[in-house]
Amino acid sequence: MPRIAHLSDLHFGEASQALVESLAADVIMAQPDAVAVSGDLTRRASRDEFARAYAFLEMLGAPLLVLPGNHDIPHGNLVGRFMHPKRRWQRARPEDSADQLSLDGTRLIGLDTVSRAQWHLDWSAGGITLERRVRLAAELEAARGLDVIVVCHHPLRHGAWATARRAPREAGATIELLRAQGVKAVLCGHLHQAEMARLNPEGPLQVIAPSAFSPRGLNAPNGWNLVAVEKGELRVETREFLSGGWRGRELLPAG
Ligand SMILES: [Fe+2]
Ligand SMILES: [Fe+2]
Repeated sequence: MPRIAHLSDLHFGEASQALVESLAADVIMAQPDAVAVSGDLTRRASRDEFARAYAFLEMLGAPLLVLPGNHDIPHGNLVGRFMHPKRRWQRARPEDSADQLSLDGTRLIGLDTVSRAQWHLDWSAGGITLERRVRLAAELEAARGLDVIVVCHHPLRHGAWATARRAPREAGATIELLRAQGVKAVLCGHLHQAEMARLNPEGPLQVIAPSAFSPRGLNAPNGWNLVAVEKGELRVETREFLSGGWRGRELLPAG
């Protein structure tokens, strides 16, 4: 039964060191088989923030699958964002970084959803280009017969509480691809609030992790999700930092 620590929106650059140490201890105590990180490692994509994020992740002592978020490419530096958005991200990644992880009948597959711009004001909303979907389709085909979990930064659909934010471009086509290939779940972040929902009646679950460390958000507690895959079914415990300590509660599909 693989157990995955799902962390998101670390936002080093605005994280308190006490919370970083406390969350690390909570994850290490859970002894996960892998750590999946669904983006926004940093606040401003600086070299120092990336270094601190990877020092923290490597301390957790489990195989890592790390995806970028919109905060991991330059924000205000428009030249950097348009000309070479992933340069800092690529330089910060350890050379042996994985794009997929295999865990006892389960395959975790990373999907990059970050885009440098949009034709509307919410440039951070991301997109899943045809090229990305073609690559994902090939990876899903190669994982046939396994329990597949896709990890990406942006939720593919937003609940009623988050409709002010846009889903990434071509999210609908991506949901259809995941459904057709029998994907079990999508682990994502970006909204800084834990939620589980079905992307369609027979399709994959979408599991959003809270922000690990960011004080910004919807007044939701900081935390992380512990995801267990048992006989093809997912059980998710969201671990919340409340009143100076860690509390777990089962996350159930909304609505
Ligand atoms: Fe974030
Ligand atoms: Fe984000």
